[in-house]
Amino acid sequence: MTSTNGHSSNGHSGNGHGGNGSVPEGSVIGGQRPEGIDNGEYGWSQIGVHDLVPKLGYREYWYPAIEANKVGRKKYGFFGSRYGTRVKMLGEDVAIFRGKDGRFGAVWNRCPHRGALLSFGRCEFEGTISCPYHGYTFDETGVCVGALTEGPESGLNGKLRVKSYPTKVVNGVVYVWMGQTQPVPIEEDIPEEFFDKNFIVHTYSKVWPINWTVTIENSGDSHNSYIHRFRMRRLLNMEAFRQLPAYWSGTRVVGETDNSMGIAPTVHAPQQAYFPLMDAKWPKRVWFRPLKAWRRGVKTFTGKPYTNEYRLPSLTRVDTRNRVHCRWAVPMDENYSMMFTFGIMKGRTWWDRFFSRVYFQTMWRYFQIKGINELEDLPVQAFDRLDPAAPQKLGTNDRAIIHWRRKMPFKSRDAQRVWGHDTDQQAAIAADALLEATENFQPQPEDTKVVGAAR
Ligand code: FES
Ligand SMILES: [Fe+2]
Repeated sequence: MTSTNGHSSNGHSGNGHGGNGSVPEGSVIGGQRPEGIDNGEYGWSQIGVHDLVPKLGYREYWYPAIEANKVGRKKYGFFGSRYGTRVKMLGEDVAIFRGKDGRFGAVWNRCPHRGALLSFGRCEFEGTISCPYHGYTFDETGVCVGALTEGPESGLNGKLRVKSYPTKVVNGVVYVWMGQTQPVPIEEDIPEEFFDKNFIVHTYSKVWPINWTVTIENSGDSHNSYIHRFRMRRLLNMEAFRQLPAYWSGTRVVGETDNSMGIAPTVHAPQQAYFPLMDAKWPKRVWFRPLKAWRRGVKTFTGKPYTNEYRLPSLTRVDTRNRVHCRWAVPMDENYSMMFTFGIMKGRTWWDRFFSRVYFQTMWRYFQIKGINELEDLPVQAFDRLDPAAPQKLGTNDRAIIHWRRKMPFKSRDAQRVWGHDTDQQAAIAADALLEATENFQPQPEDTKVVGAAR
């Protein structure tokens, strides 16, 4: 199953781990690969992370590129010229600049004259960007409206073009469409709360040294009861003293739609379990956890029967009692992603807005985004800490991941619009493979009883 779907259409085959690309053979994490095992670009795994899911992301979607207030800041704060802003997304270099009437321009970051980076150019005239080299000036649609050093009579004026991408601004964030096909209405790709006046959405973004697929898979797996078991900050909210199952007995995919899947853990575990080969118990100590576990799965913010959701192209939503922690991983290149976190809460008054902002910038930002996602999840998954091309042995707890790798690609707009017309049949084949791969999964009679959900 080493399909090149997605890779070839992105033009990035031959650029991968341990193959003939930038990483020399044998230099992958973990040292020399054993002889006789495929050293190819896609690793050894039969159902590896990149087999069907494109390394550089699905393309036929709107993606958040940058917060609007970070685009084209004046050089010296309040005065000086405005410049373009450089953004890397889906393997491409993009120059973003302020257009007219609150719009934004996004163009390929290479001047069609001699290749200078347009993002370093000034916005000499409203709604345009001028190349920093010879001053050829482009509008939001990528048309050269004035080749400044060629003069007003230049034949290039109105004819020379740089590739441009459609943009939209929603809730203070610039979204860019990088697909090969016509953009869809943006409402199809952005969470519904973003357009609902009863909700407040706050934004945080940071570059993560990680391939986007790794962090998306993390949100549907069983790491919770190990990585997030105990940290000092859990003293604050008493979580350190609450019961936590020793392990998960499986994950289930629930609430599947055309562009999403709901993920729920199956937990039938004691607080402490005996592992006979080690003649030891894990966790080692539980006496300090007398409080009852939070049953997060029982009541969610949106009323859905699960807490974790994946949405195409690269969103995850953790739905807790009073808010949604929504993360959108935008692939920059193979090893880096721009990680957007959107904090979604209810509220509509100025007071709600003010209070939620303070809460988001303090508690939420430091304890959830930094404390959990950046300090607990990321360090084990960053590109020099986890090798997605290494062989993988998936188990019962990875059922949602298998589903995500095998089935969601066929539901993607890339498959529906670009890959070909036999996607339904391919999806059926993938579904069979999915069942086969998980035949050892034994649902328990009470497996709706969810305690201790994933983050
Ligand atoms: S390289 Fe851009 S105007 Fe010459
Ligand atoms: Fe986590």
